[in-house]
Amino acid sequence: MIGRGKKAEARARRFNDWLDSRRKCHTQLLAADERGIAAAEQLLSKGEVVAVPTETVYGLAAAAFHEQAVKRIFMAKGRPADNPLIVHVANLKMVYPLVVEVPKQLDKLAAKFWPGPLTIVMKKSGLIPDVVTCGLDTVAIRMPSHPAMKRLIEVCGYPLAAPSANTSGKPSPTTAAHVLDDLDGKIPLILDGGSCAVGVESTVVSLAGEVPVLLRPGAVTLAQLRAVLGEVKVAAGVSEPPPDGEKPLSPGMAHTHYSPKARVILTIGDGAAFVKFCAENRTEDAYALCFEPEGAACGLPFESLGETEDAVSAQNRVFAALRDCDEKGAQVIFARLPSDDGSWLAVYNRLQRSAGFDVRHL
Ligand code: TXA
Ligand code: MG
Repeated sequence: MIGRGKKAEARARRFNDWLDSRRKCHTQLLAADERGIAAAEQLLSKGEVVAVPTETVYGLAAAAFHEQAVKRIFMAKGRPADNPLIVHVANLKMVYPLVVEVPKQLDKLAAKFWPGPLTIVMKKSGLIPDVVTCGLDTVAIRMPSHPAMKRLIEVCGYPLAAPSANTSGKPSPTTAAHVLDDLDGKIPLILDGGSCAVGVESTVVSLAGEVPVLLRPGAVTLAQLRAVLGEVKVAAGVSEPPPDGEKPLSPGMAHTHYSPKARVILTIGDGAAFVKFCAENRTEDAYALCFEPEGAACGLPFESLGETEDAVSAQNRVFAALRDCDEKGAQVIFARLPSDDGSWLAVYNRLQRSAGFDVRHL
């Protein structure tokens, strides 16, 4: 009988969650200045969620210790319940109570890359509610450098849990307009801080085991991590499809991700090979996502990945360009990267997932 009661309770909870997610709220857009930050703090202290700019992508923030608020993040995004959130802090002092032991490499990593686009996974303390980490015994922590996000955490005085502020599965948002496209009517406030400087989400490295492991590539490269940490392993699934039936170390790696409405085919090769590929495979409503020279030559409408073969500008453009292709009605997107390695790994990792792992080496 007790089991039955629990099932009914769970059903009622699911129904209420569904009802909540249907209830539209008015989404306000405010500049990410002192006034906007004060309004955000008010909402966060009441257990609400707020979209905030960071240097990587926009985040959907909630008070990390507030279970109900954190649940709202999952609801607004439609995020799978097994994909844990990053906890954002404003200084190192905020980190210590969140972990059971401070890894010996933390100071070195923080000195070099914090505040900035690096997330560090460590063994979690009991302070972090399970809803944040989806029951894992580790927590992912990041100290962002964006002045608005940094200031917001300082004004709040507590850490903020925040995933990217997109609908789950869609490309991450790099402008307030992208957030509005996905979450209008589902969250009360977006702080508008313009375009994000980096454009892809932070590098995630785990210090929870014997040897550091790269879980997600980002603006901080594997080579930069190795220069500080020595040996760094690369998790399965970072540069190739996650192995069948194996649970990835970073649960986010298991999910379809960054997908525009259009089908994406990712090609790796030089500009000339890409132009040939486009000519052989073109269909109506096909778009190219590539660099200027081959874009001009390929005979398809194209979205630019920025400066010619510059990995940093490709990081900065990739998500916005995918959204732009969708907006223009693309049915299929032929994307090109010159390499899947080194500083290209972050963009490769995202485009590979947008393409559902349909990658052609030309
Ligand atoms: O740049 C960023 O990291 C942005 C901004 C808002 O800070 N945030 C972001 O969050 O990208 P999200 O939730 O979209 O991605 C977090 C990734 C997911 O792949 C998740 O599975 C992984 O980090 N993650 C979180 N906690 C983890 C943990 N304890 N162990 C392993 N992976 C974890
Ligand atoms: Mg995300």
